[in-house]
Amino acid sequence: MNTNEPDLILPVFSMSCYDRTMPIYIAVVNQKGGVGKTSTCVNLGAALVRQGFSVMAVDADHQKSMTDWMLIRDPSGFPFPVMEMSHPQLHRKLPEIVGGSSYDFVLVDCPPGGEGKEKAESVSRSAVMLADIVLVPLKPEPLDFMATGQLKSLLRDISVFKPDMVTAVVINCRETVGNMSDEARDSAADYLVEDGINLKVLKAEIYKRVVIAKSVIDGVTVFDFKPKPKYARESVQKAIEEYLALAKEVLECLNLQVPSEVCPDLVEA
Ligand SMILES: Nc1ncnc2c1ncn2[C@@H]1O[C@H](COP(=O)(O)OP(=O)(O)O)[C@@H](O)[C@H]1O
Ligand SMILES: [Mg+2]
Repeated sequence: MNTNEPDLILPVFSMSCYDRTMPIYIAVVNQKGGVGKTSTCVNLGAALVRQGFSVMAVDADHQKSMTDWMLIRDPSGFPFPVMEMSHPQLHRKLPEIVGGSSYDFVLVDCPPGGEGKEKAESVSRSAVMLADIVLVPLKPEPLDFMATGQLKSLLRDISVFKPDMVTAVVINCRETVGNMSDEARDSAADYLVEDGINLKVLKAEIYKRVVIAKSVIDGVTVFDFKPKPKYARESVQKAIEEYLALAKEVLECLNLQVPSEVCPDLVEA
């Protein structure tokens, strides 16, 4: 598939519960690989769909992890369509395609740095330029904060033009024991906070849960993952609650009201 030309893989439409003329763009960004960008993007998308929002996702990573995940079984494993577009002009091209659509949210899964670093950097930059909110998954590990330097300079550059842009850090892979995550929250703020960057470290956190990784094998989001053991099903439920809480906080950051009669789960989450 030619990544320069957008391919809409599967249009699945869900009922919109929020009336908007333009989609809200969420860029999931971190130049560090393996921090949970793709997992957060996919499961946050599923959380928003669960609440009645219409969602589409853009796989902006040339490694196509999100697309591969979706296609492991068949595209119907995901409750939203995925479009491949890893392009440094994403901020221009994407609104041309989805600008007039009925999607409430367009989530962009950004690439890590590393191989093809310059292109990856320009794709992430483009996604941040487009974003109403930048979501930064961060593992509660010192080396991961130290790797945020590049991200910080990107946010700093773009915040000059977009002073209202919200950057929200979400701790991913929190351990159930120890207080690394609490330290991580402070460190994340210390590393990323700077005049001009509108930074929030979200209260919602995603714990390290095997079911989140295993849902990939079945080609589904954690919302549709159905493991056999009871303890694993309980873990799925906890993960779902965490992603619903994340969705709720993201909406709060955007000052969006969730209509309770249409989206009861999210109001309760
Ligand atoms: N909260 C979590 N709990 C357990 N495994 C996770 C969690 N978040 C991500 N993973 C796993 O960690 C690996 C990297 O996550 P991924 O979302 O692909 O990161 P990125 O997109 O930043 O490279 C994947 O195997 C994924 O399944
Ligand atoms: Mg990824």
